[in-house]
Amino acid sequence: MALSALPEWPAVPPAHGPVFLRAVEDDDLEMARELSTDPYVPLVGTLPLNASADQALGWIRRQQSRHAARTGFSFTIVLKDSGTAVGHCGLWLSELDKGRATAGYAVVPSKRGQGLAAAALTALTDFAWTIPGLHRVALLIEPWNTASIRTAVRAGYEREGLLRSYTEIEGERRDMLLFAAVI
Ligand SMILES: CC(C)(COP(=O)(O)OP(=O)(O)OC[C@H]1O[C@@H](n2cnc3c(N)ncnc32)[C@H](O)[C@@H]1OP(=O)(O)O)[C@@H](O)C(=O)NCCC(=O)NCCS
Repeated sequence: MALSALPEWPAVPPAHGPVFLRAVEDDDLEMARELSTDPYVPLVGTLPLNASADQALGWIRRQQSRHAARTGFSFTIVLKDSGTAVGHCGLWLSELDKGRATAGYAVVPSKRGQGLAAAALTALTDFAWTIPGLHRVALLIEPWNTASIRTAVRAGYEREGLLRSYTEIEGERRDMLLFAAVI
């Protein structure tokens, strides 16, 4: 089946509560380096642990190529009041022709505990529903990851089940909870 083209980058940045989402910029280097200090972040993406400036810039370049490569929308999460970059989220659209997307998110350790991930995921999901032909956004979350589960629930996602031995992380098969939002 022919792949549908990705929609244009949103003219108005997706926003909710204290945050808005914008394209990843070179100035996000320090945010990326702080994200990389969380040992879990490198396990679920391409940012190396304790990234050097060069490694963080490489990650930024990969994010900046996602839309053109038709992989999806890679956003920096930014505080509305100060313009500070506080994290990253992505809407991944390789299955857009089937009406499906997946999403992921991370907030820098120093800004956690303020509901910023839930606000960002809400903005991301509201944006998702503007994409023609998209009906479902799924999240895969490890069962121990309470903060991510709470984030998903706060953003309106429902738990659909446990995918046993779904993926390999650190050389170990891991179960994943499946959450999804649908329209
Ligand atoms: C998951 C993550 C994005 C949450 O970001 P956040 O903005 O800090 O989210 P919050 O601190 O507001 O936490 C969300 C909820 O989890 C709860 N929570 C946070 N840490 C918790 C913990 N260790 N144990 C139990 N509950 C926790 C908060 O109380 C909050 O609950 P509430 O909605 O009832 O108030 C952040 O922890 C992170 O970046 N983790 C590493 C990357 C990651 O795991 N991404 C998700 C992959 S599926």
